Amino acid sequence: MKLDRRTFILSTGAALTLPQVGLSSPSVLRAEQVKAQILPEGDGATDMLGYNGSTPGPELRVRQGDTLALRFDNKTNEGSSVHWHGIRLDNAMDGVPGLTQPLVEPGESFDYRFKTLDAGTFWYHSHNRSWEQVAKGLYGPLIVEEANPPRVDHDITVMLDDWRIEETGALVGGFGNMHDFAHAGRMGNYAKILPSQDSVRLGDRIRLRLINTATARVFPIRIEGLSAQVVALDGMPLAKPRLLEDFQIAPAQRIDLIGDVTSAVDFLFVLRDDIYEMGSIKMEGENSTPATAPIEALAAPVILEPKDVPDQSLSLRMEGGAMGGRHAGDDIWAFNGVSGLKDAPFASFNRGDTAEFDLINDTSFPHGIHLHGHHFFEVNLDGSLGDLRDTSLVERGASRKISVVFDNPGKWLLHCHMLGHQASGMKTWVEVL
Ligand code: C2O
Ligand code: CU
Repeated sequence: MKLDRRTFILSTGAALTLPQVGLSSPSVLRAEQVKAQILPEGDGATDMLGYNGSTPGPELRVRQGDTLALRFDNKTNEGSSVHWHGIRLDNAMDGVPGLTQPLVEPGESFDYRFKTLDAGTFWYHSHNRSWEQVAKGLYGPLIVEEANPPRVDHDITVMLDDWRIEETGALVGGFGNMHDFAHAGRMGNYAKILPSQDSVRLGDRIRLRLINTATARVFPIRIEGLSAQVVALDGMPLAKPRLLEDFQIAPAQRIDLIGDVTSAVDFLFVLRDDIYEMGSIKMEGENSTPATAPIEALAAPVILEPKDVPDQSLSLRMEGGAMGGRHAGDDIWAFNGVSGLKDAPFASFNRGDTAEFDLINDTSFPHGIHLHGHHFFEVNLDGSLGDLRDTSLVERGASRKISVVFDNPGKWLLHCHMLGHQASGMKTWVEVL
């Protein structure tokens, strides 16, 4: 969707600050109705859904290898569940109603418990009617600290989101409307950052953990005021830090940066001929002993390398949608002519198999394809292994190869993380035996 300055409310107001819980996590995650100040202070508050009294929900922060154990209590008036996006875990804890667990009805609870194998930036969100429940606020950050975290003055989580909101602060209704589903999804008319901390000092070395929690919007971002390197994508460390330039972050993707503060840290939403401010972390004071050591790579992830010759090569063709998309399934969107989950999996794998997927976008919209329970390599054009991700953005008309080692047994979803697309057919599942 084209952004129009008249409908896009500039977010120059105060940024919302997330509750920070330090290295700890609550024992209960209670989904409930909350009020949030989405619009600038002084404007109307918004009726939303959240966890433990706020949206985003509390930052869950544990150390790699710790067990995260909490009871999900559903105090909303709709069924829900919690999906732990991007982190490897037991299939039974993956939070997908109907596939890995029963729906948690209003008034019911479900106990989640898993060991955190991966360090990195992850998040949790509702996985029922997610196009609406996530848009209404049922999400929060899940941070797993490395055994030896890099030394920084501040470790700051920054969620990016947009909302379709009235000037009164009320969310615009019509969450499941077919027009949004058939196009790019529910785009907001208001966007801003949600940082866990709102000020830093000149010269501070900071780690920023960006998480795009929007249900549809790919943010094109420029960060000013920070001389930084990208150190991880989707929670997976890069072998070598990469200089930070303008970048895109698709729904559900994460980017970790480490850098030194040179002025207020501004988050700009960059369009071809316009720039919107999504908020900033202000600069107050000066660090008298700034870090000078080079920014180093984070500890390499423990992940199996794909075999040179894959056990299976598959194509996943995205089809359907408005504007000339080939309609091939029985809903708005499809993979290979099939919409939604069927009884049989899209493919099954033996544990340890390497599979290559050709993600082919035969539609007029970008899609961010997410695989549950695993990370995969994006394969470069020359065939070499590129970045490890759990959500891969494929532009309209483009395609991309990914390579996965299926080493985690169970039933795993594979879907578009533009959540309205997922709701209207662009999802399937695979089985690892
Ligand atoms: Cu972040 Cu199936 O989801
Ligand atoms: Cu999509």
